[in-house]
Amino acid sequence: MLYDFDTPVTRIGTDCEKWDKLAEVFGRSDLLPFWVADMDFKSAPEIIDTLRERVDAGVFGYPIMADSAKESVSNWLKTRHGWSVGPETVNFTPGVISGLSAAVYAFSDPGDGIAIQTPVYPQFFKLIKLNGREVVENPLKETDDGYVIDYENLRESLGHNVKILLLSNPHNPVARVWRADELSRLADICIEREVVVLSDEIHQDLVFSDAKHLPLGLVAPQLAPFLITFVAPSKTFNIAGLSASAWVATDKKITERFKRVLAGLHIAEVNMLAIAALETAYRKCAPWLDQLMVYLEKNRELVETFLRDRLPRVKLKHPEGSFIFWLDFRDYGLNNAELQRLLIEDARVALSPGINFGAAGDGFARLNTGCPRAQLEECLKRIEKALSSSSGVQI
Ligand SMILES: Cc1ncc(COP(=O)(O)O)c(C=O)c1O
Repeated sequence: MLYDFDTPVTRIGTDCEKWDKLAEVFGRSDLLPFWVADMDFKSAPEIIDTLRERVDAGVFGYPIMADSAKESVSNWLKTRHGWSVGPETVNFTPGVISGLSAAVYAFSDPGDGIAIQTPVYPQFFKLIKLNGREVVENPLKETDDGYVIDYENLRESLGHNVKILLLSNPHNPVARVWRADELSRLADICIEREVVVLSDEIHQDLVFSDAKHLPLGLVAPQLAPFLITFVAPSKTFNIAGLSASAWVATDKKITERFKRVLAGLHIAEVNMLAIAALETAYRKCAPWLDQLMVYLEKNRELVETFLRDRLPRVKLKHPEGSFIFWLDFRDYGLNNAELQRLLIEDARVALSPGINFGAAGDGFARLNTGCPRAQLEECLKRIEKALSSSSGVQI
């Protein structure tokens, strides 16, 4: 192994949300954190070198969004995901969420419905509500084989003044990597209903060896007039704090409309360190990512084996991608507050509360496995101990 993912990195005291905001969010600071979706690993050395060079140069003036940066994104999408889109289809926003929010302005009016498939990333709810639009839920269906899209309900929901579908592909938090047949069926319904699709593919690079990420635009080119795809190196290379993301649209009309809104809000560019890191990530860091995925897949094996052998009442549908796993504690009959109390007070671990992802998340917690394996194992052992000693809870 060329890169080291085992040695713990000290993050406490670096003003990082995951470690330094524990007391504020969970009421105590002595917890091991497995919530905020960044990883407890150093980023790729090539990215650190690039940033060091820029810092050493000592000038932090206005950057340009160079053609080479756009090319790095289009090359990445082609080589990594088989999606051939030219650099002229690539543009930037400071983050996926700022991009999605701007797209909500661009393609809907106050009071319009925005569809999401729940349980889903909490910011999706927030950005819809804070911008005065209505959340329209199309709950995912839970099956023995994992979560699936409810197409009948989707078709029906999109008929109710819905202007946009916000898609998480792969899906946070259920770790589904949508297949071609699933995506094309969804695309057909959106075309039929003339609904704009914002495909959030921020987790696209974090896919395990038994799944394959497919960009929606690759699977459903006929959706182009309705489609904007968001990608980012932030989750992939652990540089979320730098705030850089890109969006891709291949249809001229939708591109121009979105560009106008971004220009109006003055959020069509990212800062000089972020753009440099983004380009280096996409040009030079594929080997780092390949090794990261081997490591994360072993973390998945650890979690699945541990649950099967020692905590069989905690259920997990086989995660296909990302490093966030949707743990199902419903068999213990605990509601969200009781489960959180057990995790925080007894196990001393911080996991994202399931209900933050929608009502269907009651009895669930989201586990972030992007950390050294020893830390992850400690988390599982703490949960096992807490569940076995908790009054009234039979392990
Ligand atoms: C599905 C999804 N979209 C967007 C984001 C955040 O994107 P950004 O930090 O670029 O705004 C996250 C972070 O966890 C996420 O899971």
